[in-house]
Amino acid sequence: MPSVIDLRSDTVTHPTDAMRRAMAAAPLGDDVFGDDPTVNELEARAAALLGKEAGLFVASGTMGNLVSLIAHLPRGHEAIAGESTHTVVDEAGGHAVVAGATIRALPERPDGTMDPGRLADAWRDPDDLHEPITGLVVIENTHAHSGGRPLTVEYTRAVAAIAHERGVPLHVDGARFFNAVVALGVTPAELAGPADTVTFCLSKGLSTPIGSVVVGPAAFIARARRARKLVGGGMRQVGVLAAAGLVALGNGPDGTIARLADDHANARRLAEGLAALDAVRSPGGIAQPSEGRLDASRAVTNFVLFRVDRDRSRFLAELDAAGVLMVPYANGSIRAVTHRGITAGDIDRVVETVDAILKGTRPSPAPEPAPTAA
Ligand SMILES: Cc1ncc(COP(=O)(O)O)c(C=O)c1O
Repeated sequence: MPSVIDLRSDTVTHPTDAMRRAMAAAPLGDDVFGDDPTVNELEARAAALLGKEAGLFVASGTMGNLVSLIAHLPRGHEAIAGESTHTVVDEAGGHAVVAGATIRALPERPDGTMDPGRLADAWRDPDDLHEPITGLVVIENTHAHSGGRPLTVEYTRAVAAIAHERGVPLHVDGARFFNAVVALGVTPAELAGPADTVTFCLSKGLSTPIGSVVVGPAAFIARARRARKLVGGGMRQVGVLAAAGLVALGNGPDGTIARLADDHANARRLAEGLAALDAVRSPGGIAQPSEGRLDASRAVTNFVLFRVDRDRSRFLAELDAAGVLMVPYANGSIRAVTHRGITAGDIDRVVETVDAILKGTRPSPAPEPAPTAA
């Protein structure tokens, strides 16, 4: 039985051998006291890489965004963000539940951007006591629901200019920030430059087991550190995890930033293979508004979104039975994400498998066995 090809997410990646060695050997301390040297080194390295004053190691991207909202926004303030973004839709309402903030969710365009005119119009009137106070703009880079589109330096600069003119900071949810950096061919500091603060994830394409880093001005990071404590994210000898992050961000053969280009090439290969199949369609929504065939040129980072003109659940079940894992996504689409565990050969096997299922030349999965009492 060939091994499973897991395209559900880049979060399924396991740490590299170099990461495991670094984790075993990491010098440690109690990070709540600020004396874990490996965490301190990771935070400093991340901040330097993105051209910011300070960094904060957090457990996840969700925690990074949440502590950023708390640190940026007094209660009763409002953030503006794209309506499909993770901060709006996929963080269990943490902005409201924990940060005490509202979100003004704006429509997004097929390139993952918000219209600058609509953004400027979304400001609340600070003199009207009925309205919340606009206190933050959040953008997501790469932008997941548009198909992992990278947002450019120019767009980031334009959004930052609108926000800054109104005295409001810009936060980037950069869960896949380095995919954007690699796809755009810019430096991390160039892409982060216009923004005030950035959260980026180490545990997605960069392949560490756990963790994200928030970077920004030192005073903001001090507030975010307090917020991290509030949400229970003060960790102790957490250098065992930060060590993997230092490997990921390192230059040289053990670093995992530059190799993201392979994931992007594999995503394009998958998109091209799928686009050639008659029963594969456009994913719809902002991922590809036009109907008809899948446009493979939209796959520029590590996401491939598509639809099939079959029952989606049944298709995914058959794919699963054939050893290929993907997930349901927005507007009835399906998402496949490439990562370090996926080779070009795997992609060819995926395309063959999808083709066989759609042509009905693969046997249907056996029905689930009835559950038995434990
Ligand atoms: C765009 C985006 N932001 C934030 C997150 C949150 O990351 P985590 O799963 O580490 O909480 C994700 C997770 O997939 C994401 O895709």
